[in-house]
Amino acid sequence: SRSNDEDYDYLFKIVLIGDSGVGKTNILKRFINNEFQLESKPTIGVEFATKTIQSSGKAVKCQIWDTAGQERYRAITHAYYRGAVGAFICYDVTREATFKNTEKWLTELKDHADGNIVIIMIGNKIDAVDQRIVRTDEASNYCEQQQIGFIETSALDGTNIDVAFNKIVANIF
Ligand code: GTP
Repeated sequence: SRSNDEDYDYLFKIVLIGDSGVGKTNILKRFINNEFQLESKPTIGVEFATKTIQSSGKAVKCQIWDTAGQERYRAITHAYYRGAVGAFICYDVTREATFKNTEKWLTELKDHADGNIVIIMIGNKIDAVDQRIVRTDEASNYCEQQQIGFIETSALDGTNIDVAFNKIVANIF
């Protein structure tokens, strides 16, 4: 039976990183429970949640780690990245600085994570159409240069959240 979360073929650790407030916790909540919080508090330390999905005929248990984007909580890096096979670098399409900072997060991954880690950049909050600053083509060109994946999402309305997780799992295989 595939109904039991303990019955799986693979266990993939996937980390969510990116500046504070870009929506990491809500991306996780949308994926795990199909929930969203309008007023979510900054994450303190590290949290993780799991969900088993089907990919290429296999049951893949995704263990997704969510950490604080705030600088003052960033002392935990090594343990956080240990064993991770996938990483989402998240930014907020309505805040240019969060996109510029993805370069810093990419460097952090190169310094602390396994060299084979699969990286996908997420531009979140695309529901906020009137406030958008970071263009799709600008971000997608950057990701192509960096040879990493790219997807735009909305944790608020759920656009592309499952697609993002299915894509990272398929790329890890
Ligand atoms: P830290 O824990 O501080 O690192 O923040 P975070 O990246 O986990 O962000 P969080 O999920 O807490 O979301 C921050 C704020 O953005 C909250 O007010 C959310 O409701 C809002 N938010 C998250 N995702 C979306 C989205 O897709 N669209 C819109 N419009 N707002 C969002």
